[in-house]
Amino acid sequence: MSLSNNQIKKHQFDAVIIGGGGAGLRASLQLAQAGVKVAVLSKVFPTRSHTVAAQGGIAAALGNVAEDKWLWHMYDTIKGSDFLGDQDAIEFMCKNAAKAIIELEHFGMPFDRLASGKIFQRPFGGMTQNFGETPISRTCAVADRTGHAMLHTLYQRNIQANTQFFVEWFALDLIRDADGDVLGVIALQIETGEIHIMHAKTTLLATGGAGRIFQASTNAFINTGDGLGMAARAGLPLQDMEFWQFHPTGVLHAGVLITEGVRGEGGYLVNSEGERFMERYAPHAKDLASRDVISRASATEIKEGRGVGKNKDAVYLKLDHLGEELINKRLPGIREIAKTFANVDPIKDPIPVVPTAHYMMGGIPTNLDGQVVLFDENAGEKAVNGLYAVGECACVSVHGANRLGSNSLLDLVVFGKAAGDKMVAEIAQSKAHKPLPANVADATLARIARLEKAQGESVPEVGAAMRKTMQTHCGVFRFPELLSEGVGAIDAVAQRAQHISISDKSQVFNTARIEALELDNLMEVAVATMRTAHARLESRGAHAREDFAERDDANWLKHSLFYKQNNAISYKPVRLKPLTVESFEPKKRVY
Ligand code: FUM
Repeated sequence: MSLSNNQIKKHQFDAVIIGGGGAGLRASLQLAQAGVKVAVLSKVFPTRSHTVAAQGGIAAALGNVAEDKWLWHMYDTIKGSDFLGDQDAIEFMCKNAAKAIIELEHFGMPFDRLASGKIFQRPFGGMTQNFGETPISRTCAVADRTGHAMLHTLYQRNIQANTQFFVEWFALDLIRDADGDVLGVIALQIETGEIHIMHAKTTLLATGGAGRIFQASTNAFINTGDGLGMAARAGLPLQDMEFWQFHPTGVLHAGVLITEGVRGEGGYLVNSEGERFMERYAPHAKDLASRDVISRASATEIKEGRGVGKNKDAVYLKLDHLGEELINKRLPGIREIAKTFANVDPIKDPIPVVPTAHYMMGGIPTNLDGQVVLFDENAGEKAVNGLYAVGECACVSVHGANRLGSNSLLDLVVFGKAAGDKMVAEIAQSKAHKPLPANVADATLARIARLEKAQGESVPEVGAAMRKTMQTHCGVFRFPELLSEGVGAIDAVAQRAQHISISDKSQVFNTARIEALELDNLMEVAVATMRTAHARLESRGAHAREDFAERDDANWLKHSLFYKQNNAISYKPVRLKPLTVESFEPKKRVY
């Protein structure tokens, strides 16, 4: 594949969206409905995006089961974030949640119902009534397939609104001009291997997570941090990358998610002694404490020899007491998953589960309109013209150091809509496309040429080394020696990744190229994660250091910003001031 800039096909759009999951499709819908010429590029068919795997639900203080208020939801989210979340963004999300749910319902999303006919809601970890008093049912659900229902609903709405889809197109790099403005992306059409330029007035990154940096992950193989890799190569910062959520209930050895909805419906964890151990770690909320707390508890039980199974390397999730009828009605997908991946039928037997990498709290920094922002100590935040990011690849930051379950689907739709609205406004103001820089695709073409020529190791070899390094050195608990060694180890893997070859050219299909290019993106995320974790000398949310076991607000109540260039790390303040209500002051976090 050897090409020059003038051979590359060019397309012009008002808006280009990278990623066809919930965030991308909510934004594209807003644009298409406004009559904007919008393209969605997706490396898989949109309804195969990872949003489809979201199980337990989407949070909103509807109050359908018991009295609820968005302010309580806001408090829970700030506490869940271990006070690192930006309070203005959290207020915006929680305040707009009920509207977002009603909107989804009107789009045709088939929410489960209560006997009253209102939308069904179930309890989820860390969601409470009256500022932590008692657990509340706040999570709206479609059985245990909520993301599936949401994604199909949004896709159908986009078809109706004439969004133009580029299916099995892989975005490679952002186009940034000398002013720093973003003018679209360079993309590869997977089927043909052709390189194209998508020239746009506005570009939105909605590429989801990067959980494939770890060995044990609930994430799909497609979650390779593509948006973050593109942002890092374009000189943009990645925020709060040290914070990774380990979901307490991934199926042992398979990684597949078992929804927190199981515990919401009354399931609980037990150790080898049959003890319901969360009663010791979180006496009040027990199995509905936040995920970081539960994952650390399970890891401790295993470490101290109270794990279950042949190797004592898991704990049990027990739900047989819920009864076959409830399991079939509210958790049918879980029963299927348990049978397929753990060889147990949960109406009779417990499921062996382990803390499993699930969600990246960090990402590309944005403001409340989804605009990607740069930070300067004197000037504050400044938007990058033409560039937006929403969803797991972005960091707005509503999840801070630990996300509450069911706040992720909410983040996608609330900020997807906000970004769509802002893009419509920006497009209305810009008459013509800014001209593309000369040699716009040089760096990308060089990256692809490197792959064709290199004689190094294969993608699976280097990918496995990356995943092992991350799992060993940067897991649920973080140890000083392991982190220090981890920095050197992940840098060494990154070097090896520079020399990857697609060795057997006769076997090459474009998917092999894609896997190699995806590894470039994963490596950006892995290096940023290891280095920022090593640098943060406190424990907060999902970042639990053995040598700095306490949260340290005096020195570390701040967001990290990682830059690819020189592996630089800087920090910026947390926005502690909400939009309209009083701040929630940081305090000790107990469940
Ligand atoms: O447990 C779950 O159903 C996952 C939900 C989430 O990550 O928000």
